[in-house]
Amino acid sequence: MRATTCFLAGAAVAGSALATPLVGSRQADTCAPIPSPFPTWQQLPTQSSLPDPLLPRKYTTTDNVKDILVRKGRNRIQTPEQWYKCRQPEIMQLLQEYQYGYYPDHSQEKVEATRSGNTVNMAVTAGGKTAKFKATISLPSGASASRKAPVAWGFYRTLDALNMTVPEMDASRVGVTGCSRLGKGTLAAGLFDKRITVTMPMSSGVKSGAGWWTSSKLGTFVNHALNLPYDAHTIAAAITPKALIIDQGTGDASTDSKATAMVVYPAAKAIYDWLGVGDKIGINVRGRGHCDMSGFSSVLPFVQKVFFGTRTTKDYNNLGGYGSPMSTAFPWSTAVPRQ
Ligand SMILES: *[C@@H]1O[C@H](CO)[C@@H](O)[C@H](O)[C@H]1NC(C)=O
Repeated sequence: MRATTCFLAGAAVAGSALATPLVGSRQADTCAPIPSPFPTWQQLPTQSSLPDPLLPRKYTTTDNVKDILVRKGRNRIQTPEQWYKCRQPEIMQLLQEYQYGYYPDHSQEKVEATRSGNTVNMAVTAGGKTAKFKATISLPSGASASRKAPVAWGFYRTLDALNMTVPEMDASRVGVTGCSRLGKGTLAAGLFDKRITVTMPMSSGVKSGAGWWTSSKLGTFVNHALNLPYDAHTIAAAITPKALIIDQGTGDASTDSKATAMVVYPAAKAIYDWLGVGDKIGINVRGRGHCDMSGFSSVLPFVQKVFFGTRTTKDYNNLGGYGSPMSTAFPWSTAVPRQ
């Protein structure tokens, strides 16, 4: 018999006792097997609301929300342990399969780094090939090996190299940021590299087009978006438990600031809240347009809170002119399993 999922094991234990509340059951320790091959869009059900991050792909139906009301969503992830052990890894697989392509196996790579002043040179060797690149560092004044500064920009191998060559930097306080296309890169970095302490995508949404930014598999979902087993909020939620601060300008319709603020952010926050890390996600809705530099200073208090515990009175849950979340788009968030 195939291995069952986390929650199915719980359901099986409850067996015929239908009256037994299944919510909160903690029995399971096996996760659903990774599907191979992955389903095509035709094999995936259309979903009338944003995909429920707590529902494994295997149990996704067109009627998820009804299932939560009628059957108490017994196939959903019930505990944070199940989220981190089963569902978050499954989301990482789905995202690599349908959107990002597969992340390299870093254990098969070798990295060499040298530092020359404020330039760090890297050579990464894998599969007999070597790629060379460099990073420029700008240290705040006063930074030294005994007074380390947080890294303002880091990526997987760059972070390794900085850790090896720049003792003035604190590799346990790492932020990654970028705007527009680099905002999408930022989101991907925070998603795949859990050493990143705070992920700061700026103006990083997109309404349509720009197919070259993703794996061509995502293109098969054009005109079939309702079959996609995840959405932008799923990506944001999969960054848990690490911090995420989103910056969007109201004058920037092409990156869909409105939907980012009213749908993506609150839907992801529901998962952060449920996991007990609600203070690790925030949004800065500002005026003005694409990649406005004011975004950086506006998110700084949030970043300082994450890095140093510095208090701030700024409300990073404020959707500004957009008002309130459009919760009808993600009705599952009002019925998360009780802890
Ligand atoms: C930095 O290097 C130290 C010593 O090798 C290691 O323990 C630590 O995990 C590294 N940190 C990062 C963020 O890679």
